[in-house]
Amino acid sequence: MKKTVTLTFSDGSPPIELPVEEGTYGKPVIDIRPLGAHGYFTHDPGFTATSSCNSAITYIDGDEGLLYYRGYPIEELAYQSDYMEVCYLLLHGELPTATQKQAFVESISHHTLLHDQMENVFRGFRRSAHPMAVMIGVTGAMSAFYHAGLDNFNPQHRESVAHRLIAKIPTVAAWAYKFNEGQPFVYPQNRLSYAENFMHMMFATPCEDYEPNPALARALDRIFILHADHEQNASTSTVRLAGSSGANPYACIASGMASLWGPLHGGANEAVLRMLEEMDDVSKIGEFIRRAKDKSDPFRLMGFGHRIYKNVDPRAAIIRRTCYEVLDALDLRDDPQFRIALELERIALEDEYFIERKLYPNVDFYSGIIFRAMGIPTSMFTALFALARTAGWVAQWHEMLSDPAHRIGRPRQLYTGAARRSFVPLEQRGA
Ligand code: CMC
Repeated sequence: MKKTVTLTFSDGSPPIELPVEEGTYGKPVIDIRPLGAHGYFTHDPGFTATSSCNSAITYIDGDEGLLYYRGYPIEELAYQSDYMEVCYLLLHGELPTATQKQAFVESISHHTLLHDQMENVFRGFRRSAHPMAVMIGVTGAMSAFYHAGLDNFNPQHRESVAHRLIAKIPTVAAWAYKFNEGQPFVYPQNRLSYAENFMHMMFATPCEDYEPNPALARALDRIFILHADHEQNASTSTVRLAGSSGANPYACIASGMASLWGPLHGGANEAVLRMLEEMDDVSKIGEFIRRAKDKSDPFRLMGFGHRIYKNVDPRAAIIRRTCYEVLDALDLRDDPQFRIALELERIALEDEYFIERKLYPNVDFYSGIIFRAMGIPTSMFTALFALARTAGWVAQWHEMLSDPAHRIGRPRQLYTGAARRSFVPLEQRGA
């Protein structure tokens, strides 16, 4: 028999029976859709207890610290797979065969070029513009270049959009950096792997050959895997909500980037490094921990805490290990920021405040140290997150539009404003 819950009312109104749905894993959900017909909505600011969709892409168990993409544990994917396979997996639901992988990689590497006129879009920005501002603008502008022949309800069209976006976003990110630096744009190289090509577009110049360090390219590829998807977080929900109206997918991905940029979301990796730089020395850690605990101070320990993970962020453990590998490869094990980060983690994890609130390092805590060691400037950190998350965003957008039950997203509200009143002409409103 299907499980239901019965909602009863203290004022004697008739009870309402609501169906309970069970997924493969995770907490069961109460389907509250029938409530509207009874004159009620639920109220859940910040969506702390609300499932917004069915999804078969990513599963997170925040209590156990588990993250699966399409059923595969993140650890297995991070150490045994590569980002191209993971993109394929997120989009198609299965790992590719060798032939499928080859075709996918070929398709991605043949879509990396941007429309030639898009260079003009970059040139319209100030040189000092934050790379995320440029990425949001340029990705949104892609809707002006790739709008024709785009039918969101045609699965082939959606697949080609997904390929284009995964292929072109590294070019957009690297060019945002090049524009900042005042250096010429470097064109993609199809012979290179996804991560190597990104490094090439970031660091090559017309004056010098650039050979990506294989250890760093592997680490970058792994970081891309760790950031590829994370179920219905703020930016993914933004993409879904924007896309639910049938909007152009490039514009939807740009809206996801805008949401990601916030310091409580993808902007945290940049904020972590700025915080570590400000700390400057392990002797200052105590002062920062005190500030993080002081409710009259808005400061938070960046890179700590997560809405879902209340035990450990499984991505953080992988990224810490990757951090050791990268610093070893570059002979930078004594990196001062890394030493401060390790000590800060140790102190915070022993502190009652952080223990009680289940605040652990998240994925952003160590990623910035790796990026910086690779020579990637702090202002590009969130751009790298956006680059990697594009795969998840397009997979979620594609899944939403493939779902026959999908409808335009339209949350309700609890109105707490003024009751009806009559308009007062300006001359009667006082000085
Ligand atoms: N430093 C100090 N106190 C914190 C922190 C922190 N980083 N994070 C949460 N708290 C406290 C918070 O003040 C609150 O305390 P109290 O119960 O006394 O009022 C309690 O912990 C619960 O916090 P919350 O804000 O209700 O938790 P949330 O689930 O709404 O927010 C979060 C999650 C990630 C936004 C938050 O932990 C945070 O601001 N962390 C720092 C920013 C960060 O590292 N973000 C990256 C997240 S991982 C990458 C991604 O997925 O985007």
